[in-house]
Amino acid sequence: MHELHAVATHLVGSGRGILAADESVKTMSIRLNAEGIAASPTARRDYRELLPTAPDLAASISGIILCDETFNDSLADGTPFPQACRARGILPGIKVDTGTSRLPGGGGATVTEGLDGLGARLATYAASGAAFAKWRAAIDIATATDLVLEANAHALARYAALCQEHGIVPIVEPEVLCGGGHTIGDCAETTSRALTMLFDQLDRQRVDLAGIVLKPNMVTPGLHAPAASPAEVAAATNAVLRATVPDHVPGIAFLSGGHAPLEACRYLLASNAVAPTPPWHLTFSFGRALVNDALHAWQGQKANIRVAQDALLLNCANAAAARAESSELVRR
Ligand code: 13P
Repeated sequence: MHELHAVATHLVGSGRGILAADESVKTMSIRLNAEGIAASPTARRDYRELLPTAPDLAASISGIILCDETFNDSLADGTPFPQACRARGILPGIKVDTGTSRLPGGGGATVTEGLDGLGARLATYAASGAAFAKWRAAIDIATATDLVLEANAHALARYAALCQEHGIVPIVEPEVLCGGGHTIGDCAETTSRALTMLFDQLDRQRVDLAGIVLKPNMVTPGLHAPAASPAEVAAATNAVLRATVPDHVPGIAFLSGGHAPLEACRYLLASNAVAPTPPWHLTFSFGRALVNDALHAWQGQKANIRVAQDALLLNCANAAAARAESSELVRR
């Protein structure tokens, strides 16, 4: 267990954060196509290669989450992605859920799949160098009944217990979705219920909380409602976390959930400034808020790799700076 504690603390406690670059093949292809880039295994590989190879990414990034396609792929020079990450001082992680499906009786809500055969897959990923894993539950406020929260929390806890059995730190991600017009109070209420259910299931399934990373949403109004100030988001987020997350969880790495890069960083910055100092490390495991600018700058062109990497590095540096309450964020 000591190794799990050390890896979890390393991921969240080194003044850095986690880069979520684990979009499924389908999602990544949609994002490439949206930028006018023809999606293909080579295009996905070329795009994903520019992320860990950005110069000194490890200054702000402790771990990178990969999808199965990338985890089993190699850079153009033949180095497998997990090794290439480790060589640059970044721990490789693997998304192991297989997506969502409709939950019977859930009123249109989903449950996350991927438990069948997961133990064997984890053993293979561990042998190939995975230090940590990720599983995401997607919770829509409109359908977040106790049944839905329990089914998703149960799956998250089973995944987490299996990860720990294989020496892999589980990132546990119950995402209350940000889309829609809900209020910050609605988000607080659902996030609070989801986290309460989650920690009950983690406890029942004997998950060692010192060897996990929690990856929740920040508590915000819906993206189509009037925005709240960073101070309001920080106060609401801290209140929910303090009421639901045990102190011995080493760290909380927020997802960005569709918020713009600077906005997500401002929320994190304000959350780290709330007194008294939170018992856990508060950091980031953003996806879109770190990579969207890089994908847009790249345009599938070799000549744009450095510009794309600079866009990534700036967003990562801002997110890492948002871990320290007195930092300044830099605009592009
Ligand atoms: P976003 O930061 O884009 O929400 O993605 C984080 C993530 O890993 C979602 O599962």
